[in-house]
Amino acid sequence: MTKYITESTEYLQKKGFDNPEVGIILGTGLGQLISEIEVIAEASYNHIPNFPTATVEFHKGKLIYGILAGKKVVVMQGRFHVYEGYSLQDVTFPVRIMEKLGIKTLLVSNAAGAINLGFKKGEIMLIDDHINLQGSSPLAFKGVEELGERFTDMSVPYNHDINSKIEAIAIANNIKLHKGVYASVVGPQLETRAEYRMLNIIGADAVGMSTVPEVIVANHLNLKVAAVSVLTDECDPNNLKPVDIAEIIAMAGKAEPNMITLFKELIKTL
Ligand code: HPA
Repeated sequence: MTKYITESTEYLQKKGFDNPEVGIILGTGLGQLISEIEVIAEASYNHIPNFPTATVEFHKGKLIYGILAGKKVVVMQGRFHVYEGYSLQDVTFPVRIMEKLGIKTLLVSNAAGAINLGFKKGEIMLIDDHINLQGSSPLAFKGVEELGERFTDMSVPYNHDINSKIEAIAIANNIKLHKGVYASVVGPQLETRAEYRMLNIIGADAVGMSTVPEVIVANHLNLKVAAVSVLTDECDPNNLKPVDIAEIIAMAGKAEPNMITLFKELIKTL
């Protein structure tokens, strides 16, 4: 893996990805942040050596390097999911590349269903902790100890200082921000009523199909991590309506300006 990481990193450095401080992963329907960036360089996923092969859906995926709120950032426009057939090592490979490029902080966003029925669609949840329900670990491979501590500590997976800053920014900007536990499932099917009930019982406030693998690897690499869920649907097992993906994406877009404010204002303080 070390050789692959070096190859991919050198390719990006040659393209002008010069020592970004912050890495950002944008979730489904959450691409508007890009328009706020002064873009300096970009690379399509299917041109970066050793990047997972792009699926059809993935055509537009690219890594962008530029300036946001005065800081050098590298942004993943589109991410890889296990439900597309990628391994957990594939899904998290870009995090290892961003770390090698120089990032010290990783900010992650996703679209998620609200399990906590006090949380409403269109609102945002700051992730305080998570439950990995993807059935395996992105660190479960031979040679992982060459890249970091195999038995990675997960007692504080999301950085407390950054989360406090995000909470203060939310208050200052009148943004309703919940805080809670994100459970990550494989998907791509949505959950059954019984599964939503179970998620509630085990302590999840939101559910989605991403983020946890990337956060585990970011912790493996000792990066500071923060993540927010844009809540796109309400998962009430006693009143469950058929899923409407178009509505989920539309709802992500609606809440997105608030997410952008949180990230932009945070980056100014880093
Ligand atoms: N379940 C899983 N993933 C999701 C959901 C959901 O209800 N909403 C948005 N992403």
